[in-house]
Amino acid sequence: MKLIFLGPPGAGKGTLAAKAVEMMKVPHISTGNIFRAAIAAQSPLGIKVKEILDSGRLVDDETTIGLVKERLAEEDTQQGYILDGFPRTIAQAEALAGFSVVDRVVNFDIPDTSVVERLGGRRTCRACGTNFHILFGKPKKEGICDHCGGELYTRDDDREEAIKKRLEVYREQTAPLIDYYRKKGILEDVDAKPAVETVVDNFKKCLEV
Ligand code: AP5
Repeated sequence: MKLIFLGPPGAGKGTLAAKAVEMMKVPHISTGNIFRAAIAAQSPLGIKVKEILDSGRLVDDETTIGLVKERLAEEDTQQGYILDGFPRTIAQAEALAGFSVVDRVVNFDIPDTSVVERLGGRRTCRACGTNFHILFGKPKKEGICDHCGGELYTRDDDREEAIKKRLEVYREQTAPLIDYYRKKGILEDVDAKPAVETVVDNFKKCLEV
């Protein structure tokens, strides 16, 4: 199945994607992860996008569409994928329709107050990218990733000002995609506010996976 995960920052898209890829055996493609890996590697792409990510704005459509188009041309995506964080603008959605046919769009429904709480307490592994939370998903050993032993850090865009900007950008540029995909009849709403296990159940029910 070819899926899009749509929702505000901190809604839990990456957390659910990590579980869904195991169930569905499809690759997880996160544009945010691709950009953060480029920044860590100090590649030309990373140097170009670092300041944009830190401030909470969006990378330009042309760059982002080009990256996703290239990734979706790879063999492992032909039977299915989870696109997490793409598309984020109507222009990106229209471009995507030109190179891939998406089956369903999962809309993560969550209030802003939960977003702020989740992002404020998120800790991410520098090595493998796994997310933890200081209250809702603590690592076994403080500051250390359970999976690979890597160092946990607070993302630069999880600072208060950047969170505010990301929510503003989401409302202006990404939320219109909810109606865009609802009109196409492929949107499923998932209540993303409960605990992770319940969100996983809500997801399974709505997609029958
Ligand atoms: P990206 O990495 O996509 O960030 P995002 O959409 O803001 O999403 P997040 O990763 O912040 O949140 P999430 O929904 O995955 O939540 P998570 O599972 O981590 O993008 C970053 C930046 O890259 C953008 O700002 C932009 O600059 C650029 N970019 C990316 N894509 C782009 C595009 N298409 N176009 C242009 N620019 C682009 O969960 C959050 C926390 O909550 C974690 O600590 C987790 O443990 C916890 N948690 C999760 N679920 C639950 C739960 N059910 N209950 C309690 N806690 C939970």
